[in-house]
Amino acid sequence: MYLGIDLGTSAVKTILVDDAQRLIASESRPVATASPQSGHYEQDPAQWIDAAFATLDALKASRAGALAAVKGIGLSGQMHGATLLDASLRPLRPCILWNDGRSAAECRVLEQRWPALRATTGNKAMPGFTAPKLLWIAAHEPEIFAATKLVLLPKAYLRLALSGEAIEDVSDASGTLWLDAARRDWSEAALAATGLSREHMPRLVEGCAPATTLRSELARRWGMTGEPVIAGGAGDNPAGAVGIGAIRPGAAFVSLGTSGAIMAPTDAIAANPDRAVHTFCHAIPGMWIQAGAILSAASCLAWAGRLFGISEAELLAPLGSRPHAPSPVSFLPYLAGERTPHDDPDVRGMLDGLSHGSDRAAIVQAVLEGVAFALADCRDALADVGIAITEADVIGGGSRSSFWLAVLANVLNVPVHRFAGGESGAAFGAARLGRLAVTGEAIAAVCTRPQRIETFEPDTGLTDAYGERLRAWRELYRPRH
Ligand code: XUL
Repeated sequence: MYLGIDLGTSAVKTILVDDAQRLIASESRPVATASPQSGHYEQDPAQWIDAAFATLDALKASRAGALAAVKGIGLSGQMHGATLLDASLRPLRPCILWNDGRSAAECRVLEQRWPALRATTGNKAMPGFTAPKLLWIAAHEPEIFAATKLVLLPKAYLRLALSGEAIEDVSDASGTLWLDAARRDWSEAALAATGLSREHMPRLVEGCAPATTLRSELARRWGMTGEPVIAGGAGDNPAGAVGIGAIRPGAAFVSLGTSGAIMAPTDAIAANPDRAVHTFCHAIPGMWIQAGAILSAASCLAWAGRLFGISEAELLAPLGSRPHAPSPVSFLPYLAGERTPHDDPDVRGMLDGLSHGSDRAAIVQAVLEGVAFALADCRDALADVGIAITEADVIGGGSRSSFWLAVLANVLNVPVHRFAGGESGAAFGAARLGRLAVTGEAIAAVCTRPQRIETFEPDTGLTDAYGERLRAWRELYRPRH
């Protein structure tokens, strides 16, 4: 039995997976995000631990027998967040999250200070990545910077609570701008450019390697026999890749979570920092992921739900299962700024083409289409470096909506596939990494492709109309700086 714990942005989700890779149980607890000002996003690290422990307490209550048999634990987590710890390993301030746009000026400083940044990390310095946040802290909260002894990504902070050890995996570490992506090790030059050193960083491991073990008192609390191994785990996007068996070049896929991404596994770095393509180490050794990442995907639907005061299911119900034409309304999904391809933390969302006849359904459809158009921009940024997307597997909560997947197939003009359990992609990938760390089995034998349950083909009667609309949609973007 294996546990996958995904520390997401909207919830911590824990799943139990048996030796035949069947999902046995799942528990999730919400986490709240504070936005002290526009473009700033923070979370209290204590609530991650409370939420994760609550999921495990609930599994103990409902599935004590299965939980007792857990041998391995894998962690997945929202990437890039800066959790700053003092000498007693206590958080000094709320974690600054992956979608936070406050550090644009610091990104420019970082690239000037360390000209090898793009060549070494495979990334452009963008707000949201971890290193520029530390420069922002140094400039705006110098006493906190001075007191910082350790910088952890969110899931490494959870691992610290579970094991007592500060350890990070290379996939999540590649979202910091402190990693030499080819060597899969911290870059001393990158750390020095932010006034830090290796001492401030956790130990690094590969995602499928054993990292540590669960504290004995926690193993007892959850009725586990022995002390389960905790694997390196992965950032949520690489963990999602492991979950759907995207472990070879060519197996590109789409994630429709709070954020969105198109991710392409590669066996060599194929960076395109000029168009804000992300370079991540994969969660399996010797592989990387090139990703186009958008900051707001399913979170746009959540925004529409708050705007209209109804649930997401109620928003989607009137749309049916597929579009009959593009919505007359267009939506720019830049509610938190955008990364790929614009790298523009200051841009904001937009509704265009409203009329007296615009109803809620037209706006909701526009929201789903706007996210799909932004993913088409990611697809094109990947195409620049020779990565072609000929079909797309979709994971994340948004994959539950047939309408959204049908729109995506029309916009990307490729077949789009839904998986059994696709909405738990990252947690499932984490559980697989937990298993690999214990058994040492062949990666390909464990990281198989789950069953595709539905394929959405592009509607040939609509693809021209969507192509036309994509061109018009692109014209709406105006940089704010
Ligand atoms: C990827 C990114 C997000 C977060 C949160 O670059 O910022 O996908 O990992 O899910």
